[in-house]
Amino acid sequence: MPDNKLMHSNPSDDFTVIAHRGASGYLPEHTLAAAAMAHAMGADYIEQDVVLTRDDELIVLHDLYLDAVTDVADRFPGRQRDDGHYYAIDFDLAEIRTLRVHERLKANGEPAFPGRFPPDTGVFGVPALREELALIQGLNRSTGRDVGVYVEPKSPAWHSGEGKDLVAETVRILAEFGYRNRGDRAFLQSFDLDSLKYARHELNSDLKLVQLIGENRWRESPTDFDYLRTEAGLAEIAAFADGIGPWLPQTVDLSGVNFGNTTGLVEAAHRRGLLVHAYTLRADQLPAELETIEAAMELLTTQPRLDGVFTDHPDQVIHYLERND
Ligand code: G3P
Ligand code: CA
Repeated sequence: MPDNKLMHSNPSDDFTVIAHRGASGYLPEHTLAAAAMAHAMGADYIEQDVVLTRDDELIVLHDLYLDAVTDVADRFPGRQRDDGHYYAIDFDLAEIRTLRVHERLKANGEPAFPGRFPPDTGVFGVPALREELALIQGLNRSTGRDVGVYVEPKSPAWHSGEGKDLVAETVRILAEFGYRNRGDRAFLQSFDLDSLKYARHELNSDLKLVQLIGENRWRESPTDFDYLRTEAGLAEIAAFADGIGPWLPQTVDLSGVNFGNTTGLVEAAHRRGLLVHAYTLRADQLPAELETIEAAMELLTTQPRLDGVFTDHPDQVIHYLERND
C-alpha cells in the first residue's frame, strides 16, 4: 500500500462508514471533490443518489430537481415546472454540465448548513454517475484501497411515471463498472420496496440490497414504512435483501424521556440476519442531548450496535473508531 498521509483505513472491520453524499460536511454534496475527500478520509463506502436526465444519463444528485444545489434558475430561466422546480429530467446532460454546484440552499435562499463550505465559489459541477465511479475506481487503484459505492436510485416510481426505468439503468451502469454480485464493493439502496424487489427478481441483480426506512409522513415513496418495521415487514425484507437503512431516531430514542433506549429495531433486524446502516450522522446537526460525534458514536455502537452509519463527517466517525478500536 502506498505511503500517503492523506490515506487512512477504517480501523473497525465490523463498522461500516458510509460517506453521505461524499464528505458533504466539508464540500458541496455529491461533487467529485466531496467524493475524493471522502476517499482520502478513509470511508468504506461513498454514497451516490442518482436521477435520470432527459437524455437518459444518470447523474449524481439528491433531489429530483436542480434548484437547491445549482444555479439552474439563473442559467435556464423559464424551464421550471408549475411547482417552480427545475427537474433534472427536463434537461440534457450537456445542459446540466454547464451548471455550477453550490452548498445546499433552503427555499428562502439561506444555506441549509450555515457553517459549511462558502456557497458562491462556482468551482463545482454535477457529476455523471459514470464519472464518479471512474473517480472512485481510479483512486482505489492509485491508493491501493478498496472503497465501495452505495447507490440510491431516487424516486423510482416517479421516474416510472415519466417513462423512465431508473433502477434498470442504475443496475446496468453498475454492472458496466464491474459491480454485479454480493461480493462486490457495492450496495443498491432504496426507500421503494417494489423497486428493490424488481432489481432482485426481475432484473436478477445479485448486488447487496438495502431497504431504506423512512417515516410515512415524509411521503418519500409508496412504501409503508410502519409496516416494514414490524416483524412481518422485516421478514419480507429479509426474504430478498441484505440490510435495512433506518432513520437514526428509529433505532434509539434520541429525544424523549427514554433517551438512549433502544427501539428494538436493530435487534429485530439482526435476528433476521439483516445488516443495519442508519442515516444520517452530522457533526453540525446532532440531537440536542448529544454534543459531539464521539458521544453519538458511543451510543450507536453500544445500545445496540449498528453495523454502519451514513455520515456527512466520515473523518470524525473514523477517528472515534480509531480511538476505541
Ligand atoms: O440513503 C441514505 C440516506 O441518504 C437517506 O436519506 O434523503 O439523504 O437520501 P437521503
Ligand atoms: Ca441517499
